[in-house]
Amino acid sequence: MGVPSTPSMFAPVSTPAFAIRDLSFLVLAIVTFIFVVVAGVTLYAILRYRRRPGDDGRDPPQVYGSTQIELAWTVVPFLIVIVLFLTTTRYIFAIERHAAPPDALEVTIVGNQWWWEIRYPRLGIVTANELHVPLSDAARPTPTFLTLQSADVIHSFWIPQLAGKTDVIPGKTNRMWIDPRTPGVYVGQCAEFCGLQHAGMLLRVTVHPKDEFDRWVAAQQAAAADLPEARAGREVFTSVACISCHTVKGTRANGVFGPDLTHLMSRATIGAGVAPNTPENLRAWVNDPSALKPGALMPAMKLSRDELDRLVGYLVTLR
Ligand code: CUA
Repeated sequence: MGVPSTPSMFAPVSTPAFAIRDLSFLVLAIVTFIFVVVAGVTLYAILRYRRRPGDDGRDPPQVYGSTQIELAWTVVPFLIVIVLFLTTTRYIFAIERHAAPPDALEVTIVGNQWWWEIRYPRLGIVTANELHVPLSDAARPTPTFLTLQSADVIHSFWIPQLAGKTDVIPGKTNRMWIDPRTPGVYVGQCAEFCGLQHAGMLLRVTVHPKDEFDRWVAAQQAAAADLPEARAGREVFTSVACISCHTVKGTRANGVFGPDLTHLMSRATIGAGVAPNTPENLRAWVNDPSALKPGALMPAMKLSRDELDRLVGYLVTLR
């Protein structure tokens, strides 16, 4: 989609991320100045007062107490800290005070060990791990507001090019917003250690131009595929434990512990980003998730080779 995918906060495409980059440059400039001054004076002292042949070996004159110097090295750092504190506070409030306009897209993200549930309450869409949002241009801003919740432990939602990280805390609801200005796919990651597969809790955000986003919404709102040739596989799916954790709209499967599979094949990855969503990987995943993602909470389904073939044959029709 043109824009290279990088998790770098120095390539922002959304207002909160631009603000964070600007603040980072200010902080970097100040601390670089301090570094140059301190390192320069240190270097000067090392060279100017180094031991030379012919030194008499006596200590230099010992000086105790200087009100001027002590005031300088107390007041100047204090002022620097005040400047850093006030500018940071100003940026935080500017980002947090931004209220959701009435037509903002509302998305609820629920952190789970180790995947992200993504709900669009007003659109009736439930998906996982891959957030889709509309482009927000200056002429017609369409920001996306995220409500962050956790089903278990503390996670942290972080797409560096779109916004700062926001912790996802059990029993507490956090909010954040993004207004991406450039279409593309942006990658991110859970940023708070949350157990064995913390590193396997990846995020992808696809930013679509408005009409493309509307098509994505329509496709997600459609009923699950029900192809005659996949009925045998659907039988397997609804007759085993899959349905107690997963939902496929229009079937008996209405579990909520695992990702909604209604449009499973619209997602680029499985296991919250640990593998591309190919039929081969899907088969390996259902057979034994821990082979692709050690510690994954989904159990190995212990199906026969024939059942596995039929089940995967069904899953790949869920476009
Ligand atoms: Cu979820 Cu780390």
